[in-house]
Amino acid sequence: MSNIGSYEEKYKSFNWKDSEKELEYGKDGMYNIGYYCSDRICEKGFGQKIAMIWEGFTGEVKKYTYDDIRIYSNCFAKFLQDIGVNPGDRICVFMDKIPELYISFLGVLKMGGIVQPLFSAFGEEALFTRLDNAKTKAIFTTRKHLGKVRRIRKTLPEMTKIIVLDAGEKPLENDELSFDMAKMPKVDKFDIFKASPETPSVLHYTSGTTGTPKGALHVHSSIISQYITAKWVLDIRPDDIYWCTADPGWVTGTSYGIIGAWANGVTQTVLDAGFNVSHWYDFIDKYKVTVWYSAPTAIRMLMKEGDAPVKAHNLSSLRHLISVGEPLNAEAVVWSEKVFGKPFLDSYWQTETGSIMISNFPGMKVKPGSMGKAVPGITAIVVDPKTYEPITKPGLVGLVALKPGWPSMFRTYWQNKATYDGKFKNGWYICGDRSSIDAEGYFWFVGRDDDVINTAGHLVGPFEIESALLEHEAVAESAAVGKPDPINMEVVKAFIALKPGFEKSSDLEMSIMNFIRKKLSPLAMPQEIEFVASLPKTRSGKIMRRLLRAQEWGEEIGDISTLEND
Ligand code: WT7
Repeated sequence: MSNIGSYEEKYKSFNWKDSEKELEYGKDGMYNIGYYCSDRICEKGFGQKIAMIWEGFTGEVKKYTYDDIRIYSNCFAKFLQDIGVNPGDRICVFMDKIPELYISFLGVLKMGGIVQPLFSAFGEEALFTRLDNAKTKAIFTTRKHLGKVRRIRKTLPEMTKIIVLDAGEKPLENDELSFDMAKMPKVDKFDIFKASPETPSVLHYTSGTTGTPKGALHVHSSIISQYITAKWVLDIRPDDIYWCTADPGWVTGTSYGIIGAWANGVTQTVLDAGFNVSHWYDFIDKYKVTVWYSAPTAIRMLMKEGDAPVKAHNLSSLRHLISVGEPLNAEAVVWSEKVFGKPFLDSYWQTETGSIMISNFPGMKVKPGSMGKAVPGITAIVVDPKTYEPITKPGLVGLVALKPGWPSMFRTYWQNKATYDGKFKNGWYICGDRSSIDAEGYFWFVGRDDDVINTAGHLVGPFEIESALLEHEAVAESAAVGKPDPINMEVVKAFIALKPGFEKSSDLEMSIMNFIRKKLSPLAMPQEIEFVASLPKTRSGKIMRRLLRAQEWGEEIGDISTLEND
């Protein structure tokens, strides 16, 4: 029997108060996520239970109990206090998927700071944009990524604390600080910041069509949503070995790679290594992973290698498989059922929603290719893109809309209330995705309603790429669009008009690609560049990305007179 039991029954009887009670949220006036993910589990008698089994790319293994997580996160919280970081300050954690990332995330929350996780593969420009926007006070990083931080810190006057994990013997520069977790005196008792349910907790940056990336601000009570969905959708149970493959630089890696997992007191595994088919199967086999939360691009890469590598491993420990981030094609669902004996179940949500909104549940009939149904506690519909009135006819495509009010809903975009307000229409939160709903209430994803590129489950904003492209000496104008890709769903393609005096060549193409990879990230790097004489524009001079995108997808361009008037 699954944790949720009957989906229909739970959807009908759902009440957030019941989830709060189960989590004992607010007992003794305590609302801090840091407490619920470590101290509470220890108080319940599971201090010696393994919270995290970590494996690095060299094969090195480290294990941490819940008591270790509690004590080490206390250490980091105290360290931050001692160096003058205050509640409400933004503290960025910027490192690979190493144990200290997970632990310091909780440490920041325990002292009342707002934790800002950033993907460690970000280049200095992507990093700068997000630190500058958040007016981040402190950054916790490693030697590997310190160079990027040093190159931009002079332009970030608010960022006065640079904390280096593995400083070692080599001297640090200027006022950089060393925090060597293993060598710090253990802090057994820490006075956890008395957050209220509405105290800001996590700031995750996400890309939009226009403007720079936006910081979706979450609050401590988000844990109620993350706890109950980890329990019901991921079906996490006390004896599970859970593996969330996402990086905490992205919301899946924090909502379900830290908060939802540890609030449920589960043992989780972390693999800090690049993707490799047999390495992944070895990992499942070695640690006897039971619950696996991953993404369609990874599943398609596994599928591409076929059934033989699956058969070469013992994967019989797997009990429950869930996917998120991009459309999970029906073939991948059918294939996973064939080779693993259970299908990957699709789940749908966003950085802004903080937790899963629509999903397939254990025990529910699976329709391959569908995202499933609304999570208990969530009212999800589709609305007309012009009037924002609900569409009631099954099968008609509209915009996915959610009734605001669940705990993990973002509270604003950092310093950008206008954009936040613009996301609400007719009392609905508009996700920006197109979908239909069938007669049985299943959602069928159609596509995004904007120009944001979803590559391998990661959103990249065309504006950020185009702005960076313009910094290249040869680029006069550019447009970045998503181009179909059999594995990554979309990859970035750039259309570029060169400045006078520059000629197209494969060297120039490589130079532009590398320029973006270094400045932004490997995800944002165009996989293809098309040099053009000029770019199609509206009468008001705006580049018509949609036209270029439609060409890439072989779609009907339709009536471009509206585009021209954009
Ligand atoms: C966007 C949100 C929170 C998960 C990680 C991504 C797309 C997400 C699905 C799905 C089709 C999906 C949507 C959404 N997306 N899940 N199951 N099927 N598309 O978080 O970076 O904020 O991206 O990812 O377009 O709006 P994110």
